[in-house]
Amino acid sequence: MTSEVNGLLIRKLAVAYGRKKVVRSFSLGPVPRGAVLALLGPNAAGKSTLLRGIAGLGSASGEVLFDGIDLARLSRVERAKKIVYMPQSQPPGIALPVIEAVMSACSGLMGREAAMRQGYDALAQLGASDLSMQLLSELSGGQRQMVALAQAIVRRPDVLLLDEPTSALDLRHQIRVMECATVLAREQGTIVLAVLHDVPLALRYADTVAVLKGGDLMAHGEPEMIVTPQMLADIYGIEARVERCSHGRIQIMVDGTLAQ
Ligand SMILES: Nc1ncnc2c1ncn2[C@@H]1O[C@H](COP(=O)(O)OP(=O)(O)O)[C@@H](O)[C@H]1O
Ligand SMILES: [Mg+2]
Repeated sequence: MTSEVNGLLIRKLAVAYGRKKVVRSFSLGPVPRGAVLALLGPNAAGKSTLLRGIAGLGSASGEVLFDGIDLARLSRVERAKKIVYMPQSQPPGIALPVIEAVMSACSGLMGREAAMRQGYDALAQLGASDLSMQLLSELSGGQRQMVALAQAIVRRPDVLLLDEPTSALDLRHQIRVMECATVLAREQGTIVLAVLHDVPLALRYADTVAVLKGGDLMAHGEPEMIVTPQMLADIYGIEARVERCSHGRIQIMVDGTLAQ
């Protein structure tokens, strides 16, 4: 089935592991080009499973449409040009220089010279140029995460799915990564879907926030409308205040956990 709608549209997506249904009927969108969407939810809510389903990995049913085209109808190669998925954990690195690893992520999409230029650009954008000559096998967890991100953005996909892209990063690199996601969205029209546990980071950088619990979409909308003390209690089981700081940014003050 096709649709005239632009952007990313997800209809009744269901994802299972064997007979275990994790995501039952997830619908979202259309998410317009250039949007950054943060996917929030407690552990085991099905966030990673959902991202894998959107990426077309594993056993999924339903529709994922981009600019009206059902991605399931595309060949693997064509789909991989449109949608790139960065998993939550990275495979152990091999003894390959980082720049080579980043270039290999876009081999087949462009020539070697263009790939090298894009590779250095991607690392610079993430503030990780210093890693380019290091061996993948000798990186820290956070450095490995930065390289995985460079490998994802260098492909210049229409839809970028990032599973906890900031989980291993120090504060400076967390900001760099979210700024980079915003620049990709604004300048290239990329749709970025990022699973985040850091709610203040989502509030600061996402255009919209989607909340997943028990495999179901509980809410989707502007961050300020969605992230409320009630939502933090219902979704995370915490007692928290949502207040503006002296710079006008929304902050979350956690006062404790609630009995569940
Ligand atoms: N490979 C798997 N096989 C079976 N069940 C899985 C597998 N991966 C995840 N699950 C289950 O699916 C549910 C959602 O997991 P996941 O999508 O990883 O959650 P989240 O990313 O929100 O923490 C959990 O109950 C988890 O145990
Ligand atoms: Mg996960």
